[in-house]
Amino acid sequence: MDDDCRVLVVANRLPMTITVQDDGTFNYQMSSGGLASSLHGLQEKMKFQWFGWPGIDVHRSDRDTISHEVAERCKAVPVFLSKETASNYYTGFCNQVLWPLLHNMPEKALFNSKWLAKYREVNEIFADYIVPHVENGDLIWIHDYQLLLLPGILRERLEKRKVIRIGFFLHTPFPREDSFAILPLREEICNSILSCDLVGLHIKDYADRLISGCEAVLEEVHCSPHDLHYHGRKVMVEHFAIGIDPDSFRETVNTAGVQSQISLSERSFAGRKIILGVDRLDYIKGMPQRLAAFDKLLDDFPEWVGKVVLIQVAVPSRTDVLEYAKLRDAVERQVGRINGKHSRIDYTPIHYMYKSVPFEELCALYAMADVCFISSIQDGMNLVSYEYVACQQDRKGVLLLSQYTGAAKMLPGALITNPWDTPRCAEAINEALTLPAAERIKKYDECAKVVNKYTSIRWGRSFLNALESTPLQNRTPRSDGVH
Ligand code: G6P
Repeated sequence: MDDDCRVLVVANRLPMTITVQDDGTFNYQMSSGGLASSLHGLQEKMKFQWFGWPGIDVHRSDRDTISHEVAERCKAVPVFLSKETASNYYTGFCNQVLWPLLHNMPEKALFNSKWLAKYREVNEIFADYIVPHVENGDLIWIHDYQLLLLPGILRERLEKRKVIRIGFFLHTPFPREDSFAILPLREEICNSILSCDLVGLHIKDYADRLISGCEAVLEEVHCSPHDLHYHGRKVMVEHFAIGIDPDSFRETVNTAGVQSQISLSERSFAGRKIILGVDRLDYIKGMPQRLAAFDKLLDDFPEWVGKVVLIQVAVPSRTDVLEYAKLRDAVERQVGRINGKHSRIDYTPIHYMYKSVPFEELCALYAMADVCFISSIQDGMNLVSYEYVACQQDRKGVLLLSQYTGAAKMLPGALITNPWDTPRCAEAINEALTLPAAERIKKYDECAKVVNKYTSIRWGRSFLNALESTPLQNRTPRSDGVH
């Protein structure tokens, strides 16, 4: 890939978090997770120009200040949205329609025509910000479900004026047929996605489902074993499993500060095994299933009472959405019940934290846990699994991983579980805690090999290489009025 090539990275969120302080001034902090960290390594080597929503309501008079700061600090353009627009688009359509349907959970979806109109409008607003920046030869890389209509809008607006390539990466699963069939805008979404030169998903299953979904709702989709053609254009649909930057985790674990945090915590949990859960508090993550399995472990294998703890970090997420508030209540009641049942005066089985933890503390938790338990009931990839492995170089702990994650297809050394099967999950936890050292090390090494090889830099580079090598092509205008 030509490192001089300019890449316009477009995502719902900026690579930095902006907050308003008590005195009304703004605080800017580079984001420590998500896409920003995935592309961090590449950003140092290539010319990136970011676009994203700042995530807060900014008064018109402050917009120039913020645009200037964000351009200076991370070469990004903030896409400002009014509070009402953001609420209908983000809290409404993105989080209560698309998110549950893409994760095959139609029972959690709500439908509202205003949200849908605002979703379209926001995708148009993103295009308004991007179009003036586009130069011939640019690669435009659009991310995730918040911007599904953007490729189509950009293709329409730029087709005659610019020689560009458009790539799209979906970080969630692509839904199964039954959920896809009730996805609002599915025809427009598929038309937009197929306006790209390259479409990426984490695993082959998702890519196959996307192709079948497009075939089901669009005419003029022609698939041969390796290519898809739509309206006379060739569209590549490929899988590219994302990864992490394992060195940044390893280096942090080895700092003196993190090592002393680890020793301190190890002393307070002396004689007890530690199981770790780290998730955004989201219903896809299967936290109730994990808690139920841990409860069952203490019921069915009472020798572990007093000898094992579950540390659960629940990172607050999408708190304006009712389903998330209900989940928080349910999880916290469940934690209370289990602790009430199994606690002793000197033993609390579940250590529950509802907060985001600083990166160093997170690395310390990963490094000291004997088992990391990931019980998602749907999950595009799940990088907690990779992060845990990266931090476990010394201990070589066990990864207990749900079969419903993209990561389960990548990590052969993990113990794979079905989070719905509580008794078997309890047995799997027991197995993870008692795995003979030689087997544990062998399994860990298998995972570490993948985590070290399939890094975020490799992911970004292979996507951009593939995008850059797609042919530049014109598109035949549509005749059926779908734009
Ligand atoms: C998932 C999505 C991302 C999203 C992230 C955090 O990983 O795929 O697009 O940014 O969750 O969610 P939030 O709603 O806070 O952006």
